[in-house]
Amino acid sequence: MCMACHGPQGVSQVPSIPSLAAQPKTYLENKLVLIREGLRDIPAMKGTLEGVPDTELTALAQYFSAQIAPKASTAKRDLQSFQRGQELAKSALCGTCHLPDHRGRDQVPRLASQHETYLRNVLQEYRDNPGPGRDTVMAAALYGINDAQLKDLAHFFARSP
Ligand code: HEC
Ligand code: HEC
Repeated sequence: MCMACHGPQGVSQVPSIPSLAAQPKTYLENKLVLIREGLRDIPAMKGTLEGVPDTELTALAQYFSAQIAPKASTAKRDLQSFQRGQELAKSALCGTCHLPDHRGRDQVPRLASQHETYLRNVLQEYRDNPGPGRDTVMAAALYGINDAQLKDLAHFFARSP
């Protein structure tokens, strides 16, 4: 059921839908609870998790976290944008929480090799409109970062293995 949108083994084939493969188990578990409770509103997933017990959410999280991470995007690289993204990720200390190789841990999601479009959308949402079900630490981390920089960050992470 999940794979219809999130792709085979959780490797999404749709630019606006995140891959779930190799996301930390705790992160997935937290998100699934928020989605089920309607605290994180995802219209496409409305009702999908209704009545699904915690044990099954844990099993889903376990399954997707154990899958092989998506391959880094091989879409054409804009070298300057990539480098700006890489430097900004370093100077803004994204790696202190997401880990230096951006593979995530515990409640912090993996960014490496996630879809560029999804990353750009979600970064914008965290910065401009961190609704319910969104951790406020991310809005703080993106404070003062402009649109062009969000694009550079997404460009860089999508192409990071
Ligand atoms: C009809 C399509 C669809 C189906 C089916 C679907 N999802 Fe999703 N899911 C989405 C979309 C779209 C998003 C991202 C929304 C956004 O832009 O923030 C999402 C987001 C998520 C997220 C949050 C990711 C994040 O970082 O915030 C998780 C976790 C997730 N889905 C798990 C699942 C699981 C597990 C299933 C199967 C039980 C499932 N989804 C079924 C479309 C779907
Ligand atoms: C203080 C810790 C912390 C720092 C620093 C931080 N993040 Fe995060 N980030 C998180 C947490 C926790 C989440 C999950 C938030 C949630 O559950 O709503 C997250 C979520 C995200 C997501 C959403 C991923 C998805 O799959 O939905 C992106 C993209 C992201 N961070 C990018 C960044 C970037 C870029 C930086 C540096 C500018 C950064 N983060 C700095 C803790 C941090």
